[in-house]
Amino acid sequence: MKTFTFFTPKGGCGKTTLILLLAAYIRYYLGKTVKVIDFEADKFPLMRFREDDLVASHQEGTPLHNYLKGRQVLEPYPIECAGKEINNYKADDVIQLARAVNEEIRQDEFDYLLLDFPAGYSRFTPVSCLVHNHLLDGVYVPTSTERQERIDSFQIGRHFLEEGQPFKIVWNHLKKKYIENPSVLDTAEQELLGYGLPCSKVRIKDFNKATEDSSVRCFVRNTLCWPERYVKMVCPELIDLFEEIIAFLGD
Ligand SMILES: Nc1ncnc2c1ncn2[C@@H]1O[C@H](COP(=O)(O)OP(=O)(O)OP(=O)(O)O)[C@@H](O)[C@H]1O
Ligand SMILES: [Mg+2]
Repeated sequence: MKTFTFFTPKGGCGKTTLILLLAAYIRYYLGKTVKVIDFEADKFPLMRFREDDLVASHQEGTPLHNYLKGRQVLEPYPIECAGKEINNYKADDVIQLARAVNEEIRQDEFDYLLLDFPAGYSRFTPVSCLVHNHLLDGVYVPTSTERQERIDSFQIGRHFLEEGQPFKIVWNHLKKKYIENPSVLDTAEQELLGYGLPCSKVRIKDFNKATEDSSVRCFVRNTLCWPERYVKMVCPELIDLFEEIIAFLGD
């Protein structure tokens, strides 16, 4: 079993969105087994997304119902909720979570274990504990070009480097000007590499515009299918990113 997470200290960088898309890709496109553990507080519990999707999938006329009609539907991947506000994680909680992940690895029931963490700047967070105990096979750090996000990614990258954690930084939320003129990012990547911080080859643009349409939006965070048609419409680079991650994690 391979364990993986997207992690950023700062909130709102795309961790949850990317975890759900990756889980859908692994389960419903690759046909492999995956379990998602939600370590986030109950602000946006993944279970609620699943429950909403199940309701929508049975409701005549919803985009999800229409999409699933006539398709072979695989058994949905399990989601486990173990969420707390990051600042409320006490030492005992963190150790208990590390034990739970360790137990999942020992049981080896799934091909992939994906973990969704809340943002948090403390060094004593669940993710740091897992990294320190070498329980993660890979971490990607989604970051925008916004200054604070870049600094945070730089720092968490240095931390992963010190710990010997395999990781990559991945640009997310990129504005059009960076897609049209990639030399700015090329330079930034060279600089990061100079500090030993590797970047993903794939750059994820800001797909907000494409998700303004509500029927598209509902697919970006769905838990029941791999919405290939919509992903290709919204941001085909996501497919390249997931291919890269699967290769990064190895067999
Ligand atoms: N590439 C992107 N383009 C446009 N919107 C995006 C992109 N990536 C993520 N988002 C949007 O940004 C918002 C925050 O994303 P998300 O909740 O996944 O972040 P997060 O890192 O999990 O946040 P938190 O730290 O609060 O858990 C969501 O509305 C999501 O749809
Ligand atoms: Mg989140």
